[in-house]
Amino acid sequence: MEPLDPDKLPVHLAVIMDGNGRWAQQRMLKRIVGHQRGAETVKMVVEQASLMGIKYLTLFAFSSENWSRPALEVRALMTLLKKYIRQETARMMRKNIRYNVIGNRSDLPDDVNETLDSAINQTAGNTGMVLTLALSYGGRQELSAAAARMARDVVAGKVAPEKITTELFGTYLDTGGLPDPDFLIRTSGEMRISNFLLWQLAYTELYFTETNWPDFTINELHKALADFQSRERRFGKTSGQIMQRGGPLNA
Ligand code: IPE
Ligand code: IPE
Ligand code: MG
Repeated sequence: MEPLDPDKLPVHLAVIMDGNGRWAQQRMLKRIVGHQRGAETVKMVVEQASLMGIKYLTLFAFSSENWSRPALEVRALMTLLKKYIRQETARMMRKNIRYNVIGNRSDLPDDVNETLDSAINQTAGNTGMVLTLALSYGGRQELSAAAARMARDVVAGKVAPEKITTELFGTYLDTGGLPDPDFLIRTSGEMRISNFLLWQLAYTELYFTETNWPDFTINELHKALADFQSRERRFGKTSGQIMQRGGPLNA
């Protein structure tokens, strides 16, 4: 395995964890078994990212659109989520990881919200990695809700329209306070964003792998991160300008 340069890791890694259902169906198992196995991959990625010193890890766990799945699958996913949070909170404390949630929490069942609140409160003082779970999250929903909140502040006279900048708008998003993701991994071979972090992914490096989420391994994570380290992030500049400033990734 190629060694990774610890100074050139993404500050913020985001993941669209996809392919649990297909993983299960290929094995004649119920889709929920794929989600259960996917939860094991979550544990591995959380542990590895925190060990490597990645500061922010954001996982797309349930989209606004996933509410349209069969009720049985939605219920099973909510139960699994609750179980996962309950089981993992002690480990998050040991690893100094702080929980954060983005998405429309008012759509989540009360018991899930209670479990989330308890985990968020318990880990609030942790100073290591920030683990953000995107739950009932949709990028367009987040953007329109942010626009509505900002419009209310304009109407209330707290914000002057001519003072609206990309930075100010960013503070109205669920992700206010988090840096934009540097790197996005999506598993299962689908090459789309599926309404994830539409605003925040503006300059994110994208990585797609055919591997289904339950089969995603430490080696694959390293391979993806090695790929990230080989990229030149130009942010609109020329390659020459970037090289002058001390090589790739230092833009
Ligand atoms: C990702 O796996 C998990 C969630 C979206 C909750 P999927 O359940 O989407 O798996 P596929 O895409 O059907 O294989
Ligand atoms: C995206 O996966 C959402 C999550 C990973 C939670 P989906 O499997 O729901 O995406 P689409 O609908 O196939 O694009
Ligand atoms: Mg899917």
